[in-house]
Amino acid sequence: MIGTGYVGLVSGACFADAAHCCVVCVDSNAQKIDALKRGEMPIFEPGLADLVRRNVQEGRLSFSTDLAAAVRDAQIVFIAVGTPSRRGDGHADLSYVFRAAEAIGKSLRSPGFTLIVNKSTVPVGTARRVRELVQRNCAPGASFEVVSNPEFLRQGTAVQDFMYPERVVIGMWENRFQRQHECTAFSSAPLHLHERRFVADTEPGFDTRKNAQTLMTQLYTPIARISGAPVLFTNVEEAELVKYAANAFLAMKLEFANEIADLCEVAGADISVVTHAIGLDARIGPDYLQAGPGFGGSCLPKDTRALARIAQELWRPCRLVETVIEGNEARKRRIAQRIALAVVGNSADMNHVYGRCIGVLGLTFKAHTDDTRDSPAVFIVRELVELGAKVRAYDPQANHREVHQILGDDVELVCSAQEAARGADVLAVLTEWPEIRQACDALGPEGLGSLMRHRVIFDARNLWRPEDWLHSGFTYHSIGRPTIYADTAASFADASVHTTQRLR
Ligand SMILES: NC(=O)c1ccc[n+]([C@@H]2O[C@H](COP(=O)([O-])OP(=O)(O)OC[C@H]3O[C@@H](n4cnc5c(N)ncnc54)[C@H](O)[C@@H]3O)[C@@H](O)[C@H]2O)c1
Repeated sequence: MIGTGYVGLVSGACFADAAHCCVVCVDSNAQKIDALKRGEMPIFEPGLADLVRRNVQEGRLSFSTDLAAAVRDAQIVFIAVGTPSRRGDGHADLSYVFRAAEAIGKSLRSPGFTLIVNKSTVPVGTARRVRELVQRNCAPGASFEVVSNPEFLRQGTAVQDFMYPERVVIGMWENRFQRQHECTAFSSAPLHLHERRFVADTEPGFDTRKNAQTLMTQLYTPIARISGAPVLFTNVEEAELVKYAANAFLAMKLEFANEIADLCEVAGADISVVTHAIGLDARIGPDYLQAGPGFGGSCLPKDTRALARIAQELWRPCRLVETVIEGNEARKRRIAQRIALAVVGNSADMNHVYGRCIGVLGLTFKAHTDDTRDSPAVFIVRELVELGAKVRAYDPQANHREVHQILGDDVELVCSAQEAARGADVLAVLTEWPEIRQACDALGPEGLGSLMRHRVIFDARNLWRPEDWLHSGFTYHSIGRPTIYADTAASFADASVHTTQRLR
């Protein structure tokens, strides 16, 4: 497994556990590998530490920085390195993938067959380039095949998602002519691994492709059997596109919910009622309809940007995706502005944010992860700091060193929700951690209020119901729902009008 990050480590540990194969997780980051060898987890992911420990103890999982040795001994080599946004243009930065492909090519055993599987999220055409790079760098007798196997796990539930996927997609090389004339439509019925023929058995390449299909089938059979997930064999282009299309669709749902939430605020409606009602429609579904501060993380923002760029380059622009990206960027700025307005109150003068104290609860891009990459919370904190606010932030899992690298000395990182609330003019909830809600509930409005300079909450994750704050002495702002004012007479009836006027 080349790349031992969120995807590589989870996939490696899960394959070792479910398929009972020996997995070597390789990473170029020696610190990460040393930590894993000492039994320390470099990332926070529920259930992962136990899984890793068990498989290490049983001799199926090990860690190394020596890519060449790991590849030489492997039947299957996964590429699970990062594909971040390329600075400036939004394209996926494929330099890590290509460097890994070159190194794999140089290390392939010869003679012998090796299957190379790309798990990183990559633009259409990447598998082809990986194949060329491996070919250019491998020894003459080496035999290999490249397939595409995008990963759909979500941070925070990664182990569960990997063991119980909703589908497994495997992209194989095929002869297009063959497909049109000989391949039958494939079945997505659970447990039926599709017998799609990619190359006629008389064509060159038949053996390696057949080997690839057999190995992937063997590897995924235990997971498909336990989870009942369909295993879909597609061509490589389809597999590469499925991943981007899925993430763009999820991003679109979130952005849609956010737009409707804005509408709810001025129309006097409650977004949670509206999304609950539309989510009951099986054609829509309830997931990814939570209104909030904008989507973030290491996947949705970069993958929507990459899809938009791919589509532009292929002269088939995806306008919808472009609009989603713009909408999300604007949303994060708007939420920062709304928090600033909550600080300055009726004056509505942003200069008055200078020197005021904002307590921030949550920095990761969502709960149950330590990841702050492309986190809306971090973006919003940076905007508030630029307006001159003093920010004191708490997160149950965010890595303080990493956050400090991104935000510098401008933000004070503290170890509890109480400390973040101390002396705050506004307390802003930016990540939906249950721990945050529990800490605030344990204090109660009186306890919380006694810590703060002003009793104002901005709940960008709708952790509470607005009515929970009625008569509490707090002004409670949330997303797509009526604001509760400390002066309760103004609450509900005037809430929507109030919000609109203040934002104009
Ligand atoms: N994080 C997710 O939730 C998720 C979900 C699905 C798909 N993906 C995709 O999976 C890929 C990996 O994502 P991630 O979040 O695991 O990234 P990550 O940054 O957590 O891990 C990538 C790892 O690869 C290592 N690496 C880079 N080049 C290397 C090389 N040549 N040899 C050895 N190690 C190397 C890095 O040191 C790093 O530890 C990306 O393409 C991402 O889009 C991520």
